Order: sequence, then C-alpha cells, then structure tokens
Amino acid sequence: MALKKFIGISGSLRVKSSNTGLLRVMQDSPTSAYTLTILDYSTLPLYDQDVEDGGNLPSVDQARAAIAMADGIIFACPEYNGYFSAALKNLIDWGTRKSNIWANKPCLIVSAGGGGGGIRACRQLTALLTDIKAHVMPDPDIHVKIFSQPPPVDGTGTVTDSTLGDKLRNAANAFASWPMP
Ligand SMILES: Cc1cc2nc3c(=O)[nH]c(=O)nc-3n(C[C@H](O)[C@H](O)[C@H](O)COP(=O)(O)O)c2cc1C
Repeated sequence: MALKKFIGISGSLRVKSSNTGLLRVMQDSPTSAYTLTILDYSTLPLYDQDVEDGGNLPSVDQARAAIAMADGIIFACPEYNGYFSAALKNLIDWGTRKSNIWANKPCLIVSAGGGGGGIRACRQLTALLTDIKAHVMPDPDIHVKIFSQPPPVDGTGTVTDSTLGDKLRNAANAFASWPMP
C-alpha cells in the first residue's frame, strides 16, 4: 500500500491544546502506512471579502496548498458551546473560495472536549464537510473527555493514556486504508 500523506488540523490554536496532542500521538505510528504533518494556520486572517480582494495572502495560499496536496485530512476538534471552533470554520471557509479544496478530500475526525468529549462538535463538522463534498470516514468514536480522572491528556497537551494513543494510531491506520466511497 502506498504511503499516505496526511495533514492534521487541530481546531484549537493554543500551544498546550489537547486536540493538537491527539494529532501528535498519531504522528508516532509504528507502521509506514502514513505520514502526518500538523498544519499551522494560526496566522490566517479572519475571512473578509475585502481582505480576499486585496490579495497577497501567503498564509491562505500556503494552507490551501497543503490541504489540496494532502491524501487526507485528520481533524482534531474541540467543542465550544456545542460547535466546533471559529478558527476551524474560518479555515474551512477560506478553503472554499475560488475553488473548493475540500471536494472529494478524505477526512477523519476525532475530538477532545469537556463533558461529551466534543461529540456534538464532531457531528457539526461532519455535516459541514459533507455539504462541501468532502468524504468523512465513519466516526471512529474517539471523543476524549479531558476532565476525566486520571486525565487522558495532561496540561501540556500530551496524551498520557497509552490505550488512547493506540486507539488514535489504529484509527489513522484504518483511515490510510479506507476505501473512500
Ligand atoms: C468557550 C468555551 C466553550 C466550551 N464549550 C464546551 C462544550 O459545549 N462542550 C464541551 O464538551 N466542552 C466545551 N468546552 C471545553 C473545551 O472543549 C475543552 O476545553 C477543550 O479541551 C479545548 O480544546 P484544547 O484542549 O484542544 O484547547 C468549552 C470551552 C470553551 C473555552
């Protein structure tokens, strides 16, 4: 099986993000089924058509190019008041301008959040991605409750639960061999 080149997108921009931590764990796969590069889109401007029309937007161009070239996208999604984050929505919106880079893109979604582990945000994100013609792999049911005891992810955003780490890597491996519909 050919090596898949995945881009990881965390819906949280903070340095010690548990969602970014989920992606980091998936980078440590013992198999050679995939590589995973975490996208830094922290300098992306808020979408505004005046900004778009002004041009010269290297952060937008770079993010769009990285996503367009990827064999698949792995999202790690926090939940804010029942939805995925505004940062993520902004990135997705930029990706639909001029040409829709999400069309036919294989996507996998996991989440880390409060009480429900971000499951509602995942549902919203799945609905949006499906609307814009991405292909979302059936939910691998990884919705990490970060306030559980002992914490599955520590305060630095490091996954401390080895079972969770295995589950995440297994999901990424399954994604690498997913026969997209
Ligand atoms: C404004 C705000 C709203 C939140 N709302 C929810 C929520 O509706 N459901 C939930 O499970 N967690 C909620 N949380 C908790 C976050 O999902 C949790 O802190 C998450 O781990 C943040 O992701 P990060 O660690 O990757 O930054 C909320 C946090 C913030 C800051």
